[in-house]
Amino acid sequence: MKKVSKAIFPVAGLGTRFLPATKSVPKEIMTLVDRPLIQYAIDEARAAGIKEFIFVTSRGKSALEDYFDQAPELEHQLRKKGKDDLLEILKSTNMESGQIAYIRQHKALGLGHAVWCARRLVGNEPFAVILPDDVIAAETPCLQQMVEAHAETGGCMVAAMEVAPEKASSYGVLDVKEDMGSVVSTRGMVEKPAPEDAPSNLAVIGRYILTPQIMRNLNKIKTGAGGEIQLTDAIATEVQEGREVYGYRFRGQRFDCGSKAGFLQATVAFGLARPDLRDELSAYLDELVSVRNAAQ
Ligand code: UTP
Repeated sequence: MKKVSKAIFPVAGLGTRFLPATKSVPKEIMTLVDRPLIQYAIDEARAAGIKEFIFVTSRGKSALEDYFDQAPELEHQLRKKGKDDLLEILKSTNMESGQIAYIRQHKALGLGHAVWCARRLVGNEPFAVILPDDVIAAETPCLQQMVEAHAETGGCMVAAMEVAPEKASSYGVLDVKEDMGSVVSTRGMVEKPAPEDAPSNLAVIGRYILTPQIMRNLNKIKTGAGGEIQLTDAIATEVQEGREVYGYRFRGQRFDCGSKAGFLQATVAFGLARPDLRDELSAYLDELVSVRNAAQ
């Protein structure tokens, strides 16, 4: 089985939940502490052995392309001022020429369509998909855990986490065939089920390892739930045609940075994890809580 060395980053969504900010700032450039969401996604992909980074972008996302470019003037200024630590931080964001590719999704027709836009760059090999909105704090980065598990299982693999039944309607939910611990085999998945229809409590989140067959399935798919071309439908086709789709219970904490509440939670969690910010931030949070308790 060929090693997973390519990852698709679908970043062509409209980001309406963050309007008005996303009128001019791509959601993926918004920062957790001092690093944009996309940097967390790239670092995770690198740790998993990804060598080719494919961005599916849209109009108004040029800030993303600039972010990965070199910044010679800024570098020059930092060098002149002897700010070597900042220079190192800056350089760590550069991508090698030829490592990164941008492809346009001309209309926001859904995640499945965005992935399909990258079909020619992916070719005939397994590939990863990372949604930068889902930021995962983990000792071993989530995609690395998945790549290691996938080397044993093959097939398609989706990251899964347990959710309360009333939350199921916000996710794709796995129909579990056999539970083997970290890995579950599935009979398929249901996109955004009503709580009473959810086949399990395992929700799919934004990390996937997919076979090239998914691109062929997407070729045939018409619009699904919400008038969009759903990636879930292309994955479900695999199960219907007798090929394996696994869920992977990753070890780590996922933050839904596509929602305001999730983004704020991640900001606090990542701030508290930073030695240079921890004391000041936790003192502030303690104060905030005691003032609120006193007021009640
Ligand atoms: P979301 O469902 O979060 O949509 O997409 P969105 O447009 O980014 O945000 P809201 O809901 O309007 O606030 C999940 C992922 O799929 C990508 C998004 O960029 C995000 O990474 N996506 C979605 C596309 O690339 N193209 C699409 O047509 C839809």
